[in-house]
Amino acid sequence: MVPSSKEIAQLKQEETELKKLLENFKNASLALDMTRGKPAPAQLDLSIEMLSLPGKDDYKAKEGTDCRNYGLLDGLPEAKAFFAEYMGVTKNEVIIGGNSSLALMHDTLTFAVLHGYPESEKAWCKQESIKFLCPVPGYDRHFSVCETLGIEMIPVDMDENGPDMQQVSNYVKADSAIKGMWCVPQYSNPTGITYSPEVVEQLASMQTAAPDFKIMWDNAYAAHHLSHNKEKVHNLLEACKKASNPDRALMYGSTSKISLAGAGIAVLASSEANIAWYKKYLSMQTIGHDKINQLRHLRFFKNVAGLEAHMKKHAGVLQSKFDKVDEVLGKDLGNVDSATWTKPKGGYFVSLNVAEGCATRVVALCAENGVKMTAAGATFPYGKDPKDSNIRIAPSLPSVAEIEKAMQVLCTCIKMATLEKYA
Ligand SMILES: Cc1ncc(COP(=O)(O)O)c(C=O)c1O
Repeated sequence: MVPSSKEIAQLKQEETELKKLLENFKNASLALDMTRGKPAPAQLDLSIEMLSLPGKDDYKAKEGTDCRNYGLLDGLPEAKAFFAEYMGVTKNEVIIGGNSSLALMHDTLTFAVLHGYPESEKAWCKQESIKFLCPVPGYDRHFSVCETLGIEMIPVDMDENGPDMQQVSNYVKADSAIKGMWCVPQYSNPTGITYSPEVVEQLASMQTAAPDFKIMWDNAYAAHHLSHNKEKVHNLLEACKKASNPDRALMYGSTSKISLAGAGIAVLASSEANIAWYKKYLSMQTIGHDKINQLRHLRFFKNVAGLEAHMKKHAGVLQSKFDKVDEVLGKDLGNVDSATWTKPKGGYFVSLNVAEGCATRVVALCAENGVKMTAAGATFPYGKDPKDSNIRIAPSLPSVAEIEKAMQVLCTCIKMATLEKYA
């Protein structure tokens, strides 16, 4: 958005005060970090009991499997049952991974590049060009995976219902080089929106020129509600089956931000054919994942209801942080209509849009004044936000007091950068 002349006139009146504020921030030698969406220590403390589970005498799974030894490439049967329920699929439609869903996504795409999917004409690396649709703003690491694998990225706009389906369906119908699409369908990173039932249905049923078109459905925030007013995205795999595209959905999840980030469990849910395809190449990579960790998670959560109860405790830590972000932005940007931001009901991020052409300068000014923000452009493919407007705010790790200070600095920098560009 471009600021109105009224907005600029009001900011002009504040200029001397803004300069003084920035000088004070600089003199305070702040060192605040609002960049990555990591859980706070208080959230990790919620799972501290896990460090003593399953315990030295508890290493056998239900059917007597000794979890200390090799075996069961696709995971313990009870872990599969647990995560099948979590993902809304059957036990045969799920495979348990290691500690990272991003690694599962990376590997799925790498296998497709090297070998192709069962319905691919040839391996993707043997095709002239491979393209992916990327709803923007989106998750920077999805974009890095594509960039590393030489997959060309095409941005598509997001609105309050999910990706702009007119753009998506036009693209996929016209170009057989478009092989897939990234989606964070619930409490999206970074906008916090949840895809509407209509969008899910359209994604499942739309006509694609590529026979091996896949939707990378990264449901990282499936259980990460902040308010009582929970959102739940419709099940893509089910919708794909109904639409006679049973192999289109690759759905990912993990407990990274449920149990211990870096020591959680990742999961892939998809059609039985896709799971068999994935397992074939996985078996070249490992003899099996960490079953002790699977047992640890089962002992700790007991069942999906236990996991959901645990997530309420996370919300208790996070809610005040998200509230503080919204409170300071609301208070300090009252006369800055060109800045808008999201108020998510879950997930890990707030997405802020500042006046066009100002985001890079805002982030630089914040850094000069002791506040590290995620690089402008990070939420777009190739790090390039065409409007230079989007900034991702990650409130989980800092304390409420740190967030308050960081947001005050951010708001002052937004006003200064808007004045510099438009006054
Ligand atoms: C959308 C999304 N997917 C995946 C991840 C990483 O998940 P994992 O730790 O399971 O690799 C993140 C982490 O920020 C994320 O935001």
